[in-house]
This record gives sequence, C-alpha cells and structure tokens, in this order.
Amino acid sequence: MEAPHRDSEKHLQIRRHYEWRITPDRQNHEILDWASPFSQMTRFAVLADNVPLAGKSLLDIGCGLGDLLGFLNSRDIPVDYTGVDVSPRMVEEAAKRHGGKFMHMDVFADDCPLEAGSFDVVYSSGAFNLNLGNNLEFMPRALERMLHLARGSMAVNLLHCRCCTDDPVYFHHDPANILRMLDKLPCSVLLLDDYLPNDFTVICRKQ
Ligand SMILES: C[S@@+](CC[C@H](N)C(=O)[O-])C[C@H]1O[C@@H](n2cnc3c(N)ncnc32)[C@H](O)[C@@H]1O
Repeated sequence: MEAPHRDSEKHLQIRRHYEWRITPDRQNHEILDWASPFSQMTRFAVLADNVPLAGKSLLDIGCGLGDLLGFLNSRDIPVDYTGVDVSPRMVEEAAKRHGGKFMHMDVFADDCPLEAGSFDVVYSSGAFNLNLGNNLEFMPRALERMLHLARGSMAVNLLHCRCCTDDPVYFHHDPANILRMLDKLPCSVLLLDDYLPNDFTVICRKQ
C-alpha cells in the first residue's frame, strides 16, 4: 500500500497549509487552524479525562506547537512527553515555547526508527484533518502503526462527518468506518463523540 504521509508531496501539502500561519500576531489555535482555544483544549481534555497519563511516556503525533504539553503541565499531570511533527517549523516553534523533546519525524514512514511499544500512550489530535486525497486508504495503516508504537493505549481525534461541509480542504470521518478498521486490531475501543459537534475521539486499549 502507498505510504501517503511519507510521500514528499503530501508532506509539502501539510506544510503549505500550516507553516505560513506561523506569525507573531497569530494565536496558537489560529496557527494550527483550530476554531478556538476552547475546541483545541476540549480535545486535550478528552484524552486527559479518559486515559491515565500521570507518570507515563506519551507520544504526541502531529504535536504542532506542543500545546498538549502546556495543557498537561497546567493540570499538573507529569508525563514523559515526546512530540513529533512533519513540519520542521512547528517542531522548532514548539521547542522554543516549551523546551522538551520535539522531533521532526513521520512515524508512518517505513523507515521510522521508533520501535514497537516505545510509549505507554500514543496520541494524535488533528493530524488527520486535511484532505490529502487518500485519507480513507491511509487510515487503517495509521491506526495500526499508532497501536504498534503503544504499550498501553492509543487515542486519536478526527473531524466528524455529521458536520461535513463542502470544503474540500478538510476530511471528515464517519466513526462507524473507523470502528470497522479498529475491529481488525488487537484492542478494546471506546468511542467519544459528544464533546464537540465536529469531532470524535477513539481510545484503544491494547489487549
Ligand atoms: C491541527 S494541527 C494540531 C496540532 C496539535 N496536535 C494541537 O492540537 O495543538 C495538525 C498538526 O499535525 C501535523 N501533521 C499532519 N500530518 C502529520 C503526520 N503524518 N505526522 C506528524 N505530524 C503531522 C501538522 O504539521 C500540524 O502541525
């Protein structure tokens, strides 16, 4: 199967969407193309309220500006945090804002150096928002990879198809499709779709 996020054209598409927004006058949620700070933090709260994080190692895929680390610090939840992003500019900005471990990396690439079970918890918020032309083919591979990297749990949020607009820039998923993909993987699944109108989260515990 094609590895779309490894394809340099897809990387460029992602970078082109986000990087021009990195200016001093923009707030973080604007740079990251979230509707508001509230919606961004609500997504983080879904993770923190449903997955035990204290004392765990956490991989944040598509970390953007590292705001999840700031959120967890504000809640006094100590984690061994690693943020990765396909945008080198995001990684640079995240490190500037928070210090900590931020890396320019595509964990979905075949030559990704991370080993199976490297992190207690693997998380991603918003990394699959853009319509890259092959989202549905890519998703099963991405979910499998995230679970592979996790020792304990994996959680991911996606844009919900009930708020699907005609805007071709974004990709809105049907949770039923995602549940069917996860059915094939060795995990128990929790679907949360009542916290924002345009979003849902799946949390998978490894069996
Ligand atoms: C909507 S922003 C969310 C940033 C952060 N997770 C947050 O919620 O504050 C999406 C981020 O995912 C990154 N991204 C998209 N696809 C990715 C991939 N395959 N691997 C790593 N990062 C990716 C983008 O560069 C961007 O920084």
